[in-house]
Amino acid sequence: MTVRIEPADPVRSPGFFGEVSGIDLRRDLTDAEVAEVAAGMDRFAVLRFRDQDIDDAQQLAFARHFGPLEQATGDIVQGADRRLPMDVNDISNLDRDGRVMARDDRKRLFSLGNMLWHTDSSFKPTPAKYSALSARVIPDRGGNTEFADMRAAWDALDAETQALVRDLVAEHSQIFSRGTLGFTDFTEEERARWVPVPQRLVRRHPVTGRLSLYLASHAGAIRGWPTPEARMLLRDLIEHATQPRFVFVHSWRPHDLVMWDNRVTMHRARRYPADQVRDLRRVTVADCAPTLEQAA
Ligand code: OGA
Ligand code: MN
Repeated sequence: MTVRIEPADPVRSPGFFGEVSGIDLRRDLTDAEVAEVAAGMDRFAVLRFRDQDIDDAQQLAFARHFGPLEQATGDIVQGADRRLPMDVNDISNLDRDGRVMARDDRKRLFSLGNMLWHTDSSFKPTPAKYSALSARVIPDRGGNTEFADMRAAWDALDAETQALVRDLVAEHSQIFSRGTLGFTDFTEEERARWVPVPQRLVRRHPVTGRLSLYLASHAGAIRGWPTPEARMLLRDLIEHATQPRFVFVHSWRPHDLVMWDNRVTMHRARRYPADQVRDLRRVTVADCAPTLEQAA
């Protein structure tokens, strides 16, 4: 098979969201296929692989080709209460017995944070590079995932704003993002695990050299700035970056796998009927170092 990668929507989104065909993720990839996918990630930032009926082991094997995997230490459910192993993020509304969670379930309320614009694991000292999300069961309506192109968002800023934000360092924590939803009942252990970490606000892609904004709802402070001024700027930048012209809306089919480059994108989940099952699983490739240790 020959790997082909083309824009999913050549008119609205020619260089951001790619559609991959001619690849079977149930089988181990060849070196040539890995290189094609990596090049596609650098060119587009998000890739969709349709009709990939894979299990967790196949998803893990696929992602490992792109670097060491993260552990799901950002999930609120840890230890024996987890439904899935520590190298798989549980992006579902199911409890460990496979039932749709109760409305007031703590895990469910925490998971609603995925509906805020974010980039994965920016609340960890070394954040995520790639996320690979596989759809196993999807609701009959709603539940899209939206992606924002943070390279295009940077390019579209005026020069004065670019100069203002170019060297800023933000602090990211899941305590901030959940706090904006009124979710505040964290344990001492969770507060310690999710202390704010510094991240550059503007990053340079190591392969393409392109600059991009690096933002998330996890960002609640800017080093050296008064808090209200920092939060207002962050809010303003997120609003800028998520205008429809920078956003691609992905509508799930069962067995879709979507992989995105967290260094240059944000994403969010959309609402869906609370009584329906939505079971997606995410495997995450770690970045190489904290953003402050990477070339600006
Ligand atoms: C994720 C995530 C969004 C969604 O998997 O990291 O934010 O639509 N998912 O479930
Ligand atoms: Mn996410």
